Parts: sequence; C-alpha cells; structure tokens
Amino acid sequence: LKRVRTRHFQAAKEQGIKITGLTSYDQLTAQIFDAAGIDFLLVGDSAGNNVLGYDTTLPVTVDDLIPLTRAVAGAVKRAFVIADMPFGSYETGSLEALHTAIRFMKETGAHAVKLEGGVRSADQIGRIVDAGIPVMAHIGFTPQSEHGLGGHIIQGRGEGAEQLLADAHAVEDAGAFAVVMEMVPAASAARVTEELRIPTIGVGAGPHVDGQLLVWTDWAGFTTGRIPKFVKQYADLKGVLAGAAAAFKADVGGGVYPGPEHSYE
Ligand code: KIV
Ligand code: NA
Repeated sequence: LKRVRTRHFQAAKEQGIKITGLTSYDQLTAQIFDAAGIDFLLVGDSAGNNVLGYDTTLPVTVDDLIPLTRAVAGAVKRAFVIADMPFGSYETGSLEALHTAIRFMKETGAHAVKLEGGVRSADQIGRIVDAGIPVMAHIGFTPQSEHGLGGHIIQGRGEGAEQLLADAHAVEDAGAFAVVMEMVPAASAARVTEELRIPTIGVGAGPHVDGQLLVWTDWAGFTTGRIPKFVKQYADLKGVLAGAAAAFKADVGGGVYPGPEHSYE
C-alpha cells in the first residue's frame, strides 16, 4: 500500500484519473475513509461548524486544529493528509504563514497545508513551498472571507471568471501542488482545469475538474444545518443515530436493555 504523494496528484491529472477527498476531524472516520481508498483527507477548519460548535470558521485557531490533525494523520496508511490553515494564521505575511505551516508539519504529521486566497496569498504559498512543505490552494468561494465577499455567494461568474483564472494562475505559479475551487460555475471551473498544469479539486465546481472534495458530515447526512446544493448525501447518519438513540431510550425505559446476554453472572 503506497502512500499518496504530491506526484500522484500530478500523475492522476495527466492520466485522467479522478482524485477523491473528504474532510475528517478524528481517528475513526480517518481510518474508514483511508481504508475505502479516499486519496486525501482534509482536516478542514470546517471543524469549527462540525466539531467545535462555532457558527463559522472564523473563530477556529491553530491550537483547535492541531489535535484533530494529529488524530487524522496518525490514523491513515495511504491517504494524503492536509492541514487547513485557519483564519488569522497566515494573512499578515509570508513569515507568519511559514511559521503556521511549520507548526502543523512538526506537531501533527500532516503531509501538506491548505490556505485560502489566490493572488492575495501567492507570497505565502511561495514561502511555504520554498521550505519544502506542499501547499494546496483554495480559490473561488473562500469561507474565511465570507463577510468580505458578502455572504455565501457563487464566485467566478461573469467578470468573476477572469478573477478566478488570475487566482488559479497565481497559485500555480507560486508552487501549489493542487487547487481547490469552491462554489464556482462548472464552465468557469472547466476553463481553469484546462489551463492549469496542476490538478483542480472541486467543491461545488461541477464535473469538469480533476477531483472532488466534500465535507464528510454533509456527505454522510450527519449535518443538522443547511446543506449546500452541490452536496450529494451518500448516507443518512443523522437518521441512523437518531433512530438508535430513540431505540436505546425505549429499551432502557421498558426494561428490555440490558438483557441477560449483556449482563455478568
Ligand atoms: O474546511 C473545509 O472543509 C474546506 C473545504 C470545504 C474546501 O476548506
Ligand atoms: Na477550510
């Protein structure tokens, strides 16, 4: 079982093999997704909404994500593990960004980092890559700048298509090994995918990209809040767990659990 490396991302694009990624924030899901052959696991700052109880990703800190990233990196045998750099850990400059990336690499065992922004984050990407740390870029809708963008709004439409393209080229030129495109029209994503040498990973970017990434709690029907249109739910974990909890309560209340088979002599 060969570990996934950045060269495999590049080879996949060249050979037309689609790349799959999911987020993961813990050991148990990391083991399951890794064994299923998911190519990369992103320990996203979406942990803010899905694990840590925040409304957005903005309050998430490096200290919040380090233990989660360590759990995921320690659980995989094959998957490429990417640490997401949270808001406030890279924006002030390339040195701050490098310090944050180094912390993730030293303290978690992750194989790469991800940060948001195209043209505006090119210096940061270049500095981290120069230090030998692979960077996945993230353009299109970038949740950490939700307020600057004016809400959860599709990016790369109309004149935005040129900005998306400029951002994509900027991160490729800065040395990113792959780029996530979030919530952009399929046609804009297709154009970027055609123009770039590095693989494009879509999150709500249509089918004409080199790989697909989803937030696992959305994908597995575990999320209680609103689910974006682009998500396909592959399971109903919320329903399964709600049913199990109700059955447990009924069994305990009715004296059915524990039975003799669950009790010690
Ligand atoms: O944090 C996250 O889960 C992400 C993906 C949605 C791209 O950044
Ligand atoms: Na993120």
